[in-house]
Amino acid sequence: MLKKKAKYKVAVAGATGAVGREMLEILEERSFPVSELVPLASERSEGERLDFRGKSVIVRRLSKESFEGVDLALFSAGGERSLEFAPAAVKAGAVVIDNSSAFRMDPQVPLVVPEVNAPAAGRHRGIIANPNCSTIALVVALKPIHDAVKIKRVVVTTFQSVSGTGKKAIDELAQQTVALLNFRDVETKVYPHQIAFNCLPHIDAFLENGYTKEEMKMVNEAKKIMEDDSLRVTATAVRVPVFRCHSESVNIETEKKISANEVRALLSAAPGIVVFDDPKKNLYPLAIDTAGKDDTYVGRIREDESVANGINLWIVSDNLRKGAALNAVQIAELLIK
Ligand SMILES: NC(=O)c1ccc[n+]([C@@H]2O[C@H](COP(=O)([O-])OP(=O)(O)OC[C@H]3O[C@@H](n4cnc5c(N)ncnc54)[C@H](OP(=O)(O)O)[C@@H]3O)[C@@H](O)[C@H]2O)c1
Repeated sequence: MLKKKAKYKVAVAGATGAVGREMLEILEERSFPVSELVPLASERSEGERLDFRGKSVIVRRLSKESFEGVDLALFSAGGERSLEFAPAAVKAGAVVIDNSSAFRMDPQVPLVVPEVNAPAAGRHRGIIANPNCSTIALVVALKPIHDAVKIKRVVVTTFQSVSGTGKKAIDELAQQTVALLNFRDVETKVYPHQIAFNCLPHIDAFLENGYTKEEMKMVNEAKKIMEDDSLRVTATAVRVPVFRCHSESVNIETEKKISANEVRALLSAAPGIVVFDDPKKNLYPLAIDTAGKDDTYVGRIREDESVANGINLWIVSDNLRKGAALNAVQIAELLIK
């Protein structure tokens, strides 16, 4: 746990990035007790000013010396930076909450989604990992169903926005869209193919087994967070030309039968979930409506008629908020409770 204080010195590594900027906003919105904010980034952003609680704070260059007196360090500057600098932050006495995949599968590092496995946060040894953005949305919705009727198998296909790749990808989608609408050629830098008006069944690197790293993150992280190795998960991760929010089509097979109405009731009562499911009125969760929201939205809840005990769901969540910055700040809130 963090040593109890009235206010905490908080460092944000990667403060100028898509997730880092959201972290500053969420710390402010939720009135996290910050005595001093230390925004850190690369030498490219050194000296830049960011707004925090109505004042401008100056970005400093991330180094091993950045963490003197820091109580809490939120990392979102990529895995390599986490591996290099998180141990220095811990050595300086900070608790690290890391958004990268660097430590997620380390057995010594808790992987935490507060709605699902909050007690795991208390077992940290200096570093707590924040799960992959698509995994967070998935497990928030799976957990209440798993507790009620035990999930045996999950088949998930994701529709992931470009902000999941960071600020350069947001610019790439905007630039390609403008170029194409003006009959100009597109430039492709971030993704291997044009992302505007296209879907790429390819997120992160391909592995020997034919899956991508992103897909295997969902498989392995879901088991770790749900604390159930018997859970079978298969994933296909797709990048779509959407700026913000990840959507997921999820098929679940359960040990005991559960009806669509029972799932609706369970999820409506679960923390962090909004059931938004009235297809007759064309109401179901959409990326454009979910952007900026904290909750995970679930709709299209129906029984899978091809198996004995199956349920289909459509899940949408804001990848920069619940998928990253909000979940990290919620973990920090657990630590200071
Ligand atoms: N985007 C998401 O939905 C999401 C969700 C979950 C987890 N994550 C994870 O969060 C991390 C950041 O993602 P992002 O989307 O915010 O990326 P991003 O928009 O590209 O931002 C990257 C941040 O890292 C900083 N950085 C890069 N190289 C650095 C270096 N050598 N030293 C110090 N700082 C450096 C950048 O600083 P400069 O501005 O100076 O370049 C920037 O602040 C990644 O590990 C990602 O996997 C992202």
